[in-house]
Amino acid sequence: MKNLINISLKEKIILLRVDLNVPVLDGKIIDKSRIEAIRLTVKKLQEWQNKVFLISHFGRPKGKIKKEYSLKFICPTLKKTLDLDKIFFIENLEEEEIKKISNKMSSSEVCLLENIRFYPEEEKNNLNFAKKISKNFDVFVNEAFSASHRNHASIVGLPKFLPSYAGYNLIEEIKNINIFMNSSKQPNLAIIGGSKISTKINLLYHLIEKCDVISIGGAMANTFLSAMGINVGLSLHEKDLKKTAFSILEKAKKVNCKILLPLDLVCANNLQDKINIKQCNINNIPANQMALDIGGKTIKEISSYITKSKAVLWNGPLGAFEYTPFDKSSIKIAKVIKRISKSGISTIAGGGDTISVIKMAKAQDGFSYISLAGGAFLEWLEGKSSPGVDALKKN
Ligand code: 3PG
Ligand code: MG
Repeated sequence: MKNLINISLKEKIILLRVDLNVPVLDGKIIDKSRIEAIRLTVKKLQEWQNKVFLISHFGRPKGKIKKEYSLKFICPTLKKTLDLDKIFFIENLEEEEIKKISNKMSSSEVCLLENIRFYPEEEKNNLNFAKKISKNFDVFVNEAFSASHRNHASIVGLPKFLPSYAGYNLIEEIKNINIFMNSSKQPNLAIIGGSKISTKINLLYHLIEKCDVISIGGAMANTFLSAMGINVGLSLHEKDLKKTAFSILEKAKKVNCKILLPLDLVCANNLQDKINIKQCNINNIPANQMALDIGGKTIKEISSYITKSKAVLWNGPLGAFEYTPFDKSSIKIAKVIKRISKSGISTIAGGGDTISVIKMAKAQDGFSYISLAGGAFLEWLEGKSSPGVDALKKN
């Protein structure tokens, strides 16, 4: 795979695929790691006198122009974090517009393009679309490992039409995740949180075969509890996935993977509620409340499994960590991992929200590696091929 390490690209117009899908709350970016991660590649491309166009997705606008998913808001943060004097922004991908700005830009200047997912062709991996975009540029660089599991035009389409390279961070991600895979020992524990089984279902099926224990938290756990006949009140859960949840539990039994589901939960009327917060066993979830974090008994149980493990992998917060006090379990677990890591076990974490929580807990040094990728990180661990990486290899 061609990468930036041994070459230098001079005076080109570069299209740099980055992942600016950063966690945002009330319009504020809560973690800048994905921006910090592209700094080196942007700096090198600038040093080599290139014009750099950043392209990224943000959220899931489903092929429609939706103001709330515009990437324009990120420009000031990009400018500051990447130490730029100036940043250009283009609201569409029209050839005329890109040409106009490109002519205006001096070498080493940077321009951000609008959310690529405003175009339905992106997720359909429409090759004419990729070809049309590619005409405006000389070279493509993929610095978005965290989006490289997607078969999308800006990931796999563009390398079909442009000389393509992997960015520094993409190479780092692969190197470090591989080190974890090759060096970690059993028994191992995977802690999987987040909100939807639907986005992690295949991963769970696969992880079951590789892990001795899997702890499931976050809103995803509610779907499992509900599948087991537990009344989850107003808790977020995916009703139509009860069967799926059940079959995951069945398969886990067969392959001897222990699944840890919450024993108790922290419930409230809503995310903002600070008054009616209750800790309850899973059988007593109030009908008018929702589970927003796992409870103390569950934290203890997970902690005891962390202590017994030789390798721990973590993806997805265990509660609604953006809202105190529902960040409690995630912060506690991050701290426990940090403490136990001193005994020499391998620890790895991945995902935008998981990084936020680890930083909140000041537990970064408890991890052998922290990946910026969530889904892409888990798929790589699964041993699945990465469409983005394959496209670079073929280039
Ligand atoms: C992520 O945040 O995991 C990546 O940016 C990919 O986003 P997606 O899951 O919406 O494709
Ligand atoms: Mg994601």
